[in-house]
Amino acid sequence: MAVQRENHREDVAGRANVEDTPELLAYYDALDRHHAGALWTVANKIEPWEPKSQSVPVVWRYRDLRDHVLRSIDLVTPEKAGRRVIYLNNPGRTDVAAAVGWIYAGLQVMKPGEVASAHRHSASAIRFIMEGTGAYTVVDGHKMTLGANDFVLTPNGTWHEHGVSAEGSTCLWQDGLDIPFVNAMEANFYEVHPDLRQAVGHPVDDMTKTWGNAGLTPSGGDWQKGYSPMFKYEWAPTYEALGRYALCTDGSPFDGVMMDYVNPVTNGPVMRTLGASMQMLRPGEHTKAHRHTGSYLYHVAKGRGYSVINGQRFDWQERDIFCVPSWAWHEHVNLDDRDDACLFCLSDLPVMRALGFYREEAFSDNHGHQPVK
Ligand SMILES: [Fe+2]
Ligand SMILES: [Fe+2]
Repeated sequence: MAVQRENHREDVAGRANVEDTPELLAYYDALDRHHAGALWTVANKIEPWEPKSQSVPVVWRYRDLRDHVLRSIDLVTPEKAGRRVIYLNNPGRTDVAAAVGWIYAGLQVMKPGEVASAHRHSASAIRFIMEGTGAYTVVDGHKMTLGANDFVLTPNGTWHEHGVSAEGSTCLWQDGLDIPFVNAMEANFYEVHPDLRQAVGHPVDDMTKTWGNAGLTPSGGDWQKGYSPMFKYEWAPTYEALGRYALCTDGSPFDGVMMDYVNPVTNGPVMRTLGASMQMLRPGEHTKAHRHTGSYLYHVAKGRGYSVINGQRFDWQERDIFCVPSWAWHEHVNLDDRDDACLFCLSDLPVMRALGFYREEAFSDNHGHQPVK
């Protein structure tokens, strides 16, 4: 059997550049039989000059997907399906079921009165509400109520269950998890709660009321865990904060007015593996292009516009989701001249930063804007 290999021949000193000969091919076959190989046959592939993402830029338009997601209500029950989710399948990452890079995402739907059984897993999740009323999540006995553009954390190892109250309406939300990453690390465990439901042991929304007060944390409050105790981040204070910040900043030339959601105890990311931010593009704003390591999944929380990703234009409007793969050039445009646009962004930035992999570069030609193909 011929040895599978990639020979990216480049006439650069120090890079692999070995011509195949019958003798070498026979040698590679002999090595292969011992589960070994010659590094120079793969070196240029496994050590690229710069990151080469397998993910491709995609926009998932809500108007295309919403009816399909709702249809799953008639096709499967939450009991049988476990979770009634339509996942976002990046054409370059179907082998690991990722929306981008090592991030999984899906659209989940629940009817009033439905509840999924409590479980826990090594993967961490952010659940971002898209529409409907009455959604709630219970995390380790803390019940959080959720409205549109709110999100809730279900960190690594926490018991959690999702539901919609009987008085509510059908709810749709975006799940974002680090499942592909945890699987790549071969560290994923999954467990169903022995009682299927967990008891609520605290006042409703207590974690956000306790930890989510701007500039204030509870005196003597103690929190040692590796994720934010706030659990739920609400849209109203987020939007208000962006508006306040916009009054006194020019913002980033690449990101507009952008703020990171933080763990109030550490001021660091909300969880160890997944970060969240919200960026506001002011009326008519067109940011400059840059690129950086890390995978980014954007959810249009408000407004309409487009992003240019590696020279390709992707139009978006409220509730659409799009991804920016690692090291892809990107810039954003708010097409509304009178109102702002807001992009919720889920990323693996905490991993990139913690491991020292974060890099960033500005697009220098053409006044900072990519030519659009
Ligand atoms: Fe879960
Ligand atoms: Fe960026």
